Amino acid sequence: MLTLADFPPATARRIFQWADDFRGGKLRGFRPLEGRLFVNVFFELSTRTRAALEAAGKQLGADVVNLDQTTMSGEAKGESVRDTILTLSAMGARGAALRHGREGAADEAARAAPAGMSIVNGGDGCNAHPTQGLADAYTLRAEFGDDFSGLSAAIVGDCLHSRVARTDARILHALGARDIRFVGPRSLCPPSLAGFGGMAAIRVFNNLDEGLEGADAVILLRVQRERMPAAERPDAAEYFRDYGLTAARAARLGRGTVVMHPGPINRGVEIESSVADGGRSRILRQVENGMAIRKAALTMLCGDGE
Ligand code: CP
Repeated sequence: MLTLADFPPATARRIFQWADDFRGGKLRGFRPLEGRLFVNVFFELSTRTRAALEAAGKQLGADVVNLDQTTMSGEAKGESVRDTILTLSAMGARGAALRHGREGAADEAARAAPAGMSIVNGGDGCNAHPTQGLADAYTLRAEFGDDFSGLSAAIVGDCLHSRVARTDARILHALGARDIRFVGPRSLCPPSLAGFGGMAAIRVFNNLDEGLEGADAVILLRVQRERMPAAERPDAAEYFRDYGLTAARAARLGRGTVVMHPGPINRGVEIESSVADGGRSRILRQVENGMAIRKAALTMLCGDGE
């Protein structure tokens, strides 16, 4: 599971159904990964993705090993992603999740993985984060139903550096959404992102109020300061003034509009604290859904089939 580009909508919907079953308790005690080894290989920091994959893997019966930069010899000693995956495979790993700062690292891992070993992209640079995209689409499905064709989604913030922006846009488009907006300052949301991935439905707005007009879902993004040169990092207070979802702006959203954020959130930068904790917020629901989605994904990838 490397990207949601060209991801079959039928597969996404099947994952959603399994996630429903995990959430609804129908699959309680279901352990399709019993005795199998799954490894989290995280070259970048993570709270949600890594913890959810670890918990999901363990609840499905897997033995889960976590590697990160503080424990892995890997790249610090000159080992390639390919050799890391081959090493884990030789230990009997049936699957691995890889997070890396470099776009394409998960594809490299997948090319190295032998038959029978699955790779989950836990986020590669600015490129893709498929389990987050599925969790976000699943969260929107719970709010607005299976038919995405009428959905307006405003993805707000640092779209340029965000793998979540790209991944959410791809899966929402694949599921039928026809009004997807990238909204943010020109420096972080350049006009060249319009029509991203050949998706004509994607429009760019550099004015926040225009970008939020009529949106059913506002998906906020963190400013990825670590992916930009120091001179290009926006001032936090200015960013909040011009692009933050303040309580005043949130009050002007439609009655049923929901607010989402993949996390980690920066209160007072992209979102006012009261909005993050308020009635429109689905931020913790995304985390909750991320567990069910990852259980469904791991079952599909590392189990023996249905
Ligand atoms: N949403 C997300 O990927 O969060 P983490 O960086 O904590 O995994």
